[in-house]
Amino acid sequence: MEILRTVSEVREWARRQRTAGRAIHFVPTMGYFHEGHLSLMRRANADGGAVIVSIFVNPLQFGANEDLDRYPRDFERDRLMAESVGVDAIFYPEVSEMYPPGYQTEVRVKELSKPLCGRSRLGHFEGVATVVLKLFNIVTPDRAYFGMKDYQQLRIIEQLVQDMNLPIEIVPCPIVREPDGLAMSSRNVYLTPEERAAATVLYRSLQWAQAQVESGERNALKLREGVYERLAAEPLARIDYVEVVDAETLQPVERVVRPTLIALAVFFGKARLIDNCVVCP
Ligand code: PAF
Repeated sequence: MEILRTVSEVREWARRQRTAGRAIHFVPTMGYFHEGHLSLMRRANADGGAVIVSIFVNPLQFGANEDLDRYPRDFERDRLMAESVGVDAIFYPEVSEMYPPGYQTEVRVKELSKPLCGRSRLGHFEGVATVVLKLFNIVTPDRAYFGMKDYQQLRIIEQLVQDMNLPIEIVPCPIVREPDGLAMSSRNVYLTPEERAAATVLYRSLQWAQAQVESGERNALKLREGVYERLAAEPLARIDYVEVVDAETLQPVERVVRPTLIALAVFFGKARLIDNCVVCP
């Protein structure tokens, strides 16, 4: 497995893959791998071609009061984990390689960035869209793999690829959960044992909503209130939002008549956790 530190090293690596007739499959990450990341890498590998993973904690997508400085990092552990699932190369740039002095450009996917996490994390999705567009231009992948836990991010990147005419197939991958249902996230390490136990309320609330839809409930307000009540009953949970929105536009819906996203963000102590499910009538 090759470790690439610079843009020119990645370009040279990509050129070699193309010369060898291999497609390039890309998994962008911020590192501190868990099973969710590994599932993306396994999928990228199973689809054939050369697999490249980026590890870059992107300062542009963190707000002033967010966790940039304490975001968990362990390159050596990540390297071994990536190697164990057959990754061919890791792009591990310095901040100065991605944003050299004089850097100015930002990208904004206007409407999809406004609702849900966009309300409480100002500038976050501009940071994500900017770094992902840069990474796509550097790596020139044929396919890129994104987890559905960050559903809004996935929709923004799909829109970015469409609007910018990028010849890249975005492959959405299912949420990977702990045995008790908690969605895997690098930020789960912030949870105390009490908060970790309490956080199972997220998936239980979503499961309740899913069961409601399956038994015929179509009223979005009732679903939203039901999820909210279940979360609010957990003393360690501080709710940021619960929303029931169209799965494509992310705009609020009154009734569940098309694929609909039930999304939530909840603080447990220092950790802000997100989770979601897509329900279909
Ligand atoms: O999902 C993430 O880990 C990040 O937002 C991404 C897509 C790697 C961009 O920094």
